[in-house]
Amino acid sequence: MRVLLTGGAGYIGSHTALALLESGNEVVALDDLSNSSRESLHRVEELTGKTVDFVEADLTDAAATRQSLEGVEFDAVIHFAGLKAVGESVAQPTRYYRTNIDSTLTLLDLMRERGVTRLVFSSSATVYGDPLTDRIAETHQVGVGLTNPYGWSKAMIEQIIADAAHAWPELAAVNLRYFNPVGAHPSGRIGEDPDGIPNNLMPFVAQVAVGRRERLSVFGDDYPTPDGTGVRDYIHVMDLAEGHVVALEHAKPGVRSVNLGSGEGSSVLEVVRAFERASGREVPFSIEPRRAGDVASVIADPSLALSEWGWRTTRSLDDACRDAWAWQQSNPQGYANA
Ligand code: NAD
Ligand code: UD1
Repeated sequence: MRVLLTGGAGYIGSHTALALLESGNEVVALDDLSNSSRESLHRVEELTGKTVDFVEADLTDAAATRQSLEGVEFDAVIHFAGLKAVGESVAQPTRYYRTNIDSTLTLLDLMRERGVTRLVFSSSATVYGDPLTDRIAETHQVGVGLTNPYGWSKAMIEQIIADAAHAWPELAAVNLRYFNPVGAHPSGRIGEDPDGIPNNLMPFVAQVAVGRRERLSVFGDDYPTPDGTGVRDYIHVMDLAEGHVVALEHAKPGVRSVNLGSGEGSSVLEVVRAFERASGREVPFSIEPRRAGDVASVIADPSLALSEWGWRTTRSLDDACRDAWAWQQSNPQGYANA
């Protein structure tokens, strides 16, 4: 397949580009580079020995996107493009809704005009809100009590895709609900390159280990979890990337929502210890108050992806820490000095 990756220069997009090329597909990456660097895709080309076609466009500008894609062929789409910082979405709700929703509307119109029917969308476990069960299956309620515009935009886009499929029965869409993506390609050549102070745990821990930040703030140690710190289901980004290839291959008319997670929970302190083992460095931390909007535990029931597609994670948290450390050590400033 020749696959259009919107947001293809970003963290998950670049790793998925690599997985697609390695499984014999072709890639067109469309990105406005608002939160990424062109360098990530140069490195994907270097690692695979294959070419990535690149289109620079802002998906919220429908006319410009249409023009940029004139003459560019593709027969499936993976839609990563969007804004993803939870705190920023609370401060800038209209920007978040405009970018995430407008981009999706532009894309769906474009797909219909061109008769491209296969779509995989980057959704998130955030659509489940505060989980009602220990392990969250796809049948769990969605869009109840969400605490931020980012999360709402994901739930709204899932609804938009469902409505589009109703009006256009050939549409074959998969919402992939990611749990917590972490790690990097084992080469350490591509990885997560957050702008400014990282919001997420693993990139923050990596920056402490490399000496770029003094200490980690652990947000709360009084949750009802084994050690009192928050528990999450961390999934290696290469497992996640391979999950996209499988999802594309299995997309059928209609809409499916499928979890991509490991089914294992790890606490903040377990992540700190795993990173210390992988890096051989100490990660100093202090216990701070809970972060607003956080929940105690979020763990996937990943059995649907296994029974339907034969997909499961094959990499551990230790693997993710080792690969994130390789990336962090060889690129302490991310792609900035490339
Ligand atoms: P990222 O920021 O690295 O990638 C998103 C890409 O989209 C960036 O390259 C950015 O430049 C591009 N982009 C943003 N607005 C655009 C626009 N208007 N037009 C064209 N390109 C645009 O983020 P990521 O971590 O790779 O996430 C990819 C997707 O997965 C996002 O939709 C995100 O919400 C979703 N997701 C991510 C996580 C996570 O923890 N990383 C978890 C769940 C879901
Ligand atoms: C966050 C987003 C979520 C998004 C997910 C994707 C919030 C509130 N939620 O989830 O919508 O889908 O990223 O990856 O931002 N932690 C610390 N110190 C830190 C950073 C985090 O203790 O400096 C703790 C958090 O309290 C949490 C765990 O580490 O218990 C993981 O946090 P994070 O990586 O931000 O992910 P989520 O909160 O699960």
